[in-house]
Amino acid sequence: MQKAYKETGMNDIFETIKQVAFEIDTAIKTSDLGYSDSENSSGEDQLKLDVQSDIIIEKAFANVASVKALVSEEKEGVLELSETGKYTVCYDPLDGSSLVNVNLSVGSIFGIYEGELEGKNLVASAYVVYGPRVELVIATRDSKPMLSRVIAGKFKEIGEIFMNEKGKLNASGGTQQNWSDYHKAFIDSLFAEGYRLRYSGGMVPDLHQIMLKGGGLFSYPGTTDKPNGKLRQLFEVIPFALMYEQAGGEAINNKGMRLLELLPAHPHDTSPCFFGSKYEITALRKAYGIKA
Ligand code: AHG
Repeated sequence: MQKAYKETGMNDIFETIKQVAFEIDTAIKTSDLGYSDSENSSGEDQLKLDVQSDIIIEKAFANVASVKALVSEEKEGVLELSETGKYTVCYDPLDGSSLVNVNLSVGSIFGIYEGELEGKNLVASAYVVYGPRVELVIATRDSKPMLSRVIAGKFKEIGEIFMNEKGKLNASGGTQQNWSDYHKAFIDSLFAEGYRLRYSGGMVPDLHQIMLKGGGLFSYPGTTDKPNGKLRQLFEVIPFALMYEQAGGEAINNKGMRLLELLPAHPHDTSPCFFGSKYEITALRKAYGIKA
């Protein structure tokens, strides 16, 4: 998969993601649990883990020639790196970081864009899951998501990820009392069909589980308190949309638009989002009154 990208500098980006995955995993395992505004044992200010992870990523990409700019979930705006670079890397350095304190899995997400920062210009995406194991998934426009796992201190390719037509898992985010009636009815209908609830509150492990277990639905709808959902388009929604489409699933918003066609007006814009196998997304379209 990565051979095709050797000449373009994309491979340097993938190698840098592997390097930062080791560093962030070490930070997660050795930091004073990221309590904000606290001091560490030597009396120095202790940075939160998501801020530490952001610094690790920024430093690692600073000298990657193919990277033009960085956009981080932790920062406002765009950090320009090199006029001659080709790609902008948009990333969430440590998604779900509050889950570290209760020892659940967390992740880093990367979207690699060429040109304007919009869905159609996403050329590749990657995410890292920090759990009992450290795993990395990379997808490009012309490859299925490739799962790698750290074995004996190195990432080893395990295999491509394929989703089935229909899955068994149902993960739906947001505060339920703020869901629309039709969203609630739709989620209930999946449970009535036998779907099982799986929701940790970390989109990386939740979406990873659904992909690896063959399919299902992950949704973060628009709600009365968050009409545009919670998840960020550039760093979270669009990169995972590529994963799901390349694995054989679908990823759409509440109007039926492919998430890979989103046009964020601002780097931190959010969108309602639905990722799933074809069966569940077809059912969602019907429930939301979206014409196929
Ligand atoms: P945060 O990084 O602020 O902890 O947010 C995590 C994200 C995402 O990973 C997860 O799917 C979603 O927020 C969970 O939100 P809800 O609790 O509202 O469902």
